[in-house]
Amino acid sequence: MQGKDVYLDNAATSHPKPESVLRAVLAALTDFNANPGRSGHRRALEAGRTVLAAREAIAGLLSAADPFSIAFGFNCTDCLNLAIKGALRTGDHVISTMLEHNSVLRVLSEKLRGNEIELTLLTPRPDGFVDPSDIRRAIRKNTRLIALTHASNVTGAIQPVAAVGQVARESGVPYLIDGAQAIGSMPVDVNALGCQLYAFPGHKGLLGPQGTGGLYIAPELELTTLREGGTGSSSDSMLQPAERPERYEAGTLNLPGIAGVLAGVEYVKKNLSQIFMRERELTTALYEGLSEIPSVTIYSPREEAARAGIVSFNASDLSSSQVADQLDRDGIAVRGGLHCAPGAHRFLGTLKRGVVRASVGHATTFEDIDQLLRSVSTMQ
Ligand SMILES: Cc1ncc(COP(=O)(O)O)c(C=O)c1O
Repeated sequence: MQGKDVYLDNAATSHPKPESVLRAVLAALTDFNANPGRSGHRRALEAGRTVLAAREAIAGLLSAADPFSIAFGFNCTDCLNLAIKGALRTGDHVISTMLEHNSVLRVLSEKLRGNEIELTLLTPRPDGFVDPSDIRRAIRKNTRLIALTHASNVTGAIQPVAAVGQVARESGVPYLIDGAQAIGSMPVDVNALGCQLYAFPGHKGLLGPQGTGGLYIAPELELTTLREGGTGSSSDSMLQPAERPERYEAGTLNLPGIAGVLAGVEYVKKNLSQIFMRERELTTALYEGLSEIPSVTIYSPREEAARAGIVSFNASDLSSSQVADQLDRDGIAVRGGLHCAPGAHRFLGTLKRGVVRASVGHATTFEDIDQLLRSVSTMQ
């Protein structure tokens, strides 16, 4: 069976990118290719204006008052590293969960192995959602960070991020949300969520190119730096400047990437409620279609409002990679395996077999979903 090419791996990186993103990347490499924030010539100034516009657009999307509270990084992992390593000191206690991606789990586990921190990793309730009262109970005198994914990248389960924000606020513990699977697909308001740190990729829901990511850092929170170097500012000093965002952005920025993210954010802003509603409808069609196939087991939440644009499943007694390979032969791109989230698979009991993750995006159609369902229904 081979239909048109179907891309259902948007949770890994979004595809296709809007035309405006492609044009913006090309323009950054041609029309105003220069080093932003360094030289004073016209090209460099235009490059600098583009970076500022991207900061403003992202701050607006997150309802953050200050565009300089957005620091750019290379991907979501890079920004999570800055958030976690920047916030913690030796002897601190951290609360996080088994649902986290390795970009959180490995950073914390390496710190634990080095005896730098104490760590509580909470298991979600049987329904796949973390219980905010478990977080409240886990708080100690030396708790200095709560780190929680906005939505699981394995099941799509949207976590009670605002309720956890309330717990964090009441206890005065800094709160980091990993927004990798949420930004661009649903409304995000850092004030309503009560977080001081919100990390996100530029290449998933924001529809920009790979090599992009960002971190919202609340003005009142001071992080130590992950790397130091040239910023184009305070160049008479051998120390990293205190001013944001350059304090957290050493070295030349990814101008073509950031220009692409700006175009992606503009596209998302124009279409967010449409994207949000349509991705929900598509995910529901996917969930309902899969639940009608007797050999299929689904791992994502049943309730529409409780999941991001992800439905994970297994078929018959096949391994997830066998199913993913068969889908690929049928022209359908999904991701099998463990999705860099071993704790989530331990929780689901799928560490050996993995799961097949189908994830929708802004360009997914109902025909794409039908094509996947037809292919899965033939698998024994
Ligand atoms: C929940 C979650 N966090 C972090 C990441 C890491 O993002 P990046 O690949 O941009 O480093 C991912 C990527 O899939 C993810 O799904």
